[in-house]
Amino acid sequence: MKDIDIHSLSADEWDELKFPRPEVQEFDRVVERAISRRGFLGGVLAFGSGAAVMGTGLLKGTTAMAQPASRFPFTPIAAQTDNTIHVPEGYSWKTLVRWGDPLFSDAEGAFDPQNGVPVAMSDRVFGENTDGMELFNVDGREIIAINSEYVNPEVNLPHTSDGMPTSADDVRMLQNFQGVSVIEIAEGADGWAVVVDSPYNRRIHHNTPMTFSGPAAGHDLLKTDADPTGMASLGTFNNCGSGRTPWGTYLTCEENFNGYFGATAEVTAGRAVLDGFRRYGVNTAVEPGRYNYHGFDPRFDVATNPNEPHRAGYIVEIDPAKPDSTPIKHTALGRFKHENAAYGIAADGRVAVYMGDDERGEFMYRWLSRDVYVPGGDTSTLLVDGELSVAVFEDDMTGRWVPLTPESTGMDAAHIAVFTRMAGSRVGATTMDRPEWIAVHPNAAEAYCCLTNNSRRGTLTDAGTVRTNAGGDPMTVNAVNPRDTNRYGQIVRWRPAGGDHAADSFAWDLYVMAGNPTVAEGAQAGSANINEGNLFNSPDGMVIDNTGLIWIQTDGDDSNEGHFAGMGNNQMLAGDPVTGRIERFLTGPNGCEVTGLCWSSDRRTMFVGIQHPGDNGGDWPDHGGALARSAVIAIKRDDNDLIG
Ligand code: FEO
Ligand code: CA
Ligand code: CA
Ligand code: CA
Repeated sequence: MKDIDIHSLSADEWDELKFPRPEVQEFDRVVERAISRRGFLGGVLAFGSGAAVMGTGLLKGTTAMAQPASRFPFTPIAAQTDNTIHVPEGYSWKTLVRWGDPLFSDAEGAFDPQNGVPVAMSDRVFGENTDGMELFNVDGREIIAINSEYVNPEVNLPHTSDGMPTSADDVRMLQNFQGVSVIEIAEGADGWAVVVDSPYNRRIHHNTPMTFSGPAAGHDLLKTDADPTGMASLGTFNNCGSGRTPWGTYLTCEENFNGYFGATAEVTAGRAVLDGFRRYGVNTAVEPGRYNYHGFDPRFDVATNPNEPHRAGYIVEIDPAKPDSTPIKHTALGRFKHENAAYGIAADGRVAVYMGDDERGEFMYRWLSRDVYVPGGDTSTLLVDGELSVAVFEDDMTGRWVPLTPESTGMDAAHIAVFTRMAGSRVGATTMDRPEWIAVHPNAAEAYCCLTNNSRRGTLTDAGTVRTNAGGDPMTVNAVNPRDTNRYGQIVRWRPAGGDHAADSFAWDLYVMAGNPTVAEGAQAGSANINEGNLFNSPDGMVIDNTGLIWIQTDGDDSNEGHFAGMGNNQMLAGDPVTGRIERFLTGPNGCEVTGLCWSSDRRTMFVGIQHPGDNGGDWPDHGGALARSAVIAIKRDDNDLIG
């Protein structure tokens, strides 16, 4: 780690680097399995009978040209390597809000292009590193809820030499720049802008009071000296992707929460707690870590507060219509590195919520409510009472949801809620290539998950060993994760049996395997719907619009060299679920990740998030040597027509 500037890394990259320290386990016929997978891979790419089942010709070798009229309303753009944003001809973009922009008039002028934001105003401005977002129309007003996933301390604390906090104020500043911003926005003659001082504007950060619901609420595992009830948590952490409920609330998803904790002394907690730290990557070494919160804020010191990490890693519900409401951490939906949350309504009206755990070799989950959703009815039990299941993908392109219950896991309900990863391991869940966003088709019973990459899938570390996830589950190559050392990623699609999101089983295929046919052959070239004109790697954000187009955002290697030649900066593409055709719509500035997507209520504006622009020292969007600022942009068609 010596030569790596830890503050130049994204939250995901940091977590990859630092946690977990993968264990290896005995060779288990890995070669035999890999060979059989190669055989299967040929089957996937040829995609015989499966294609008919899934209703697509995509991987049969048919080309986009053979398909009927294009469903793409734009002319695709080329890959780019410059420090700005490109969109197709006939479309324009404009910044909606940048890190440091005021949400309240007392913070107007608070942002300085060289010095950032003073601590006194750090919870009065838009947060850093925008990620998932959703828009709600509340009594005719447009309210957008936007995650701020993490901070780049070198940018956010420009007065420090190396970005490491030097005081409690520095820590408080970083804590305030993260979490969620709820903002009223409005469209005027100059486009969309923040409604400063709107009564709906709200900053939720690392110290905002929250409560818990579900099996772990009030449990001993959640109690701390400061909160002996185990019910009054402070803050939401590493808010990555987003979700929404049919009843109009926002779901923010706590991902790499482990990275905020550290130890000032040897940690002497019980074995279950230490096992949990190991599985979730909570650092117990006595060192400053990435943020050194624990150096100035004892709450984050696991030597004295070993239960504090149990209070993060959840799906958190926020009511954007009620600025004074207390966010709820729903423990029934499990504790892991939540990427996003995408719901579907089952045939009988129950609510299914699909969720991924973004770490190498972790799992995909489904929540299914006990009660049915009735518009206007009581929704208070729908994320509290129900069943959490984990996905098993079989190599025959079927799969099933295995319930995590005391009977199936040997764990009680509270432990399943807090140590969900261990519960998944106990029932033999399939280790996945880092599940990022899941998208549910609004008009068809199918869903998609971005499996972004997995540098350690199947990799032999020594003769006779195979990489495992942090729990020791082997990351053997399998049909749904078919590539050893998966550098490009793939998108899996599944259809629940009977078209019912409550079904126990599903059929699956790979919608796309990203790759690079200009530099590689075979599996590394990608699936048939990858070509020189749409190269990308590491699919991450994903939303399906009302017309059924799949919008895919990337968080990958933007070196434009070697394996990644021709891919350019991170980008957003659109995919046709029927033909498999994929076209590039947007390219981001240098160093950025494109993440977060929602629409205005009239569907004439698309909002897109630009995270960590100018990583390693860029100056987008203000340029001229100013501090780089993550931002949400508004994209419109020049003819103001619908845009998804
Ligand atoms: Fe925060 Fe897995 O992306
Ligand atoms: Ca990210
Ligand atoms: Ca992501
Ligand atoms: Ca990512």
